[in-house]
Amino acid sequence: MSRPTRTVIPEGLAAGSLRRTSVSHIAFRVPDPAATADFYERVLGLQIATTLPDGTIRLGWGSGHHVLDLAAGDKGLLHYAFEVRDAGGLNGIRERLDAAGISHEKLDPGFVDDAVGAADGISVIDPDGTEVQFHSPVRRAGEHAADTGRRPIKFQHTTIGTADVRRFAEFFVGIVGFRISDQLQNGHFCWMRSDRDHHTLAVVDVGRGGDIDHYSYDLAEWEDFKSWCDRLTDLEVPVQWGPGRHGPGNNLFVFFDDPAGNHVELSAEMEKFHDDRVEYVPRQWEPRPETVNLWGGQTPKWRKVGAAE
Ligand SMILES: [Fe+2]
Repeated sequence: MSRPTRTVIPEGLAAGSLRRTSVSHIAFRVPDPAATADFYERVLGLQIATTLPDGTIRLGWGSGHHVLDLAAGDKGLLHYAFEVRDAGGLNGIRERLDAAGISHEKLDPGFVDDAVGAADGISVIDPDGTEVQFHSPVRRAGEHAADTGRRPIKFQHTTIGTADVRRFAEFFVGIVGFRISDQLQNGHFCWMRSDRDHHTLAVVDVGRGGDIDHYSYDLAEWEDFKSWCDRLTDLEVPVQWGPGRHGPGNNLFVFFDDPAGNHVELSAEMEKFHDDRVEYVPRQWEPRPETVNLWGGQTPKWRKVGAAE
C-alpha cells in the first residue's frame, strides 16, 4: 500500500488544544422552514422552542439548548457552532485567531435561548465564508431524558463539504485546536476531534464550499438501528444509505434526507480517543468505498470516494 505523504495535512502546534469541545447547534436555510420543522418534530422528536423575529424556527429537545435553526431561503448552511467546555478554551481560540490575523467578533449574547444562556462566545468566518461559533458551556438539563426509540440522544457531529479540505483542516487544527483522527490518503476527507469522540467535525471534498455534506445524531446501540429503520419506513422517510459501519470512527450509521435535501446520519459506537493517556498518530485510509462502508463498500450517489471520483 503506497503512502503518499504529500497529502498528509500537518498538525500544527495548536493541535489538541481543545479536548472538551463538542458540537452545539447548526443553522440551515431551507426553502420551507415550517415543513422542515414539522419533519424534524415528527421524525427526530425535536420541538419548536421559539420563532425568532426574522421568522427563523428554532428547535431543540426538552428545556435544553437548541439544536437546529431553520431560516427561509435556498438550501444552505448559515452557521454551525461548538460548545467549548475546556478551561480557558475560548480565550485560547481568541489568542490563536489574533496571532493568525483572523478577525472575529464577540457572539451576541442573544444567540442562545434565554433559559440556558452562555456567558461568552466567538463568531468567526471559516475558510469557505461560513460563520462558525464557539461558546461557553450551556445548561443542558432536560436534554438527557432520551427515549432512544423516538429521538436520538444528541447532536453529535457536522461534516462540511468544501473544495479545499487542507485549508479547512489547517484552520480547525492549526488555529482553533482540533486534532486529526483520520484522513484519506488523497487528502479528500479529514475527520477531526475536539473531545474523546473520534470526530466532532469532518470535512470532505465535494467540489464547492458553503454547505454541509451531512450532519449526525447519536443513537445508543445497534438494536436502535433496527427500530429506527422500521420507524423511518413507517414515517415514509426512505433510508438512503446503510445500515453500515464506517472505517474511520468505526461507527455504525444509517442515513436519510430531510425535506430540504440535507443528509442526516444516525450513528452509534463511535471510537473513543484518550489523548490524556496515549499519543495517537493521524491515520491515512485508502480512498476506496470500503473505507467509508466496511460492510461491502456500497455508497449513495452523493458519496464519491476513490475510483468513482
Ligand atoms: Fe458522519
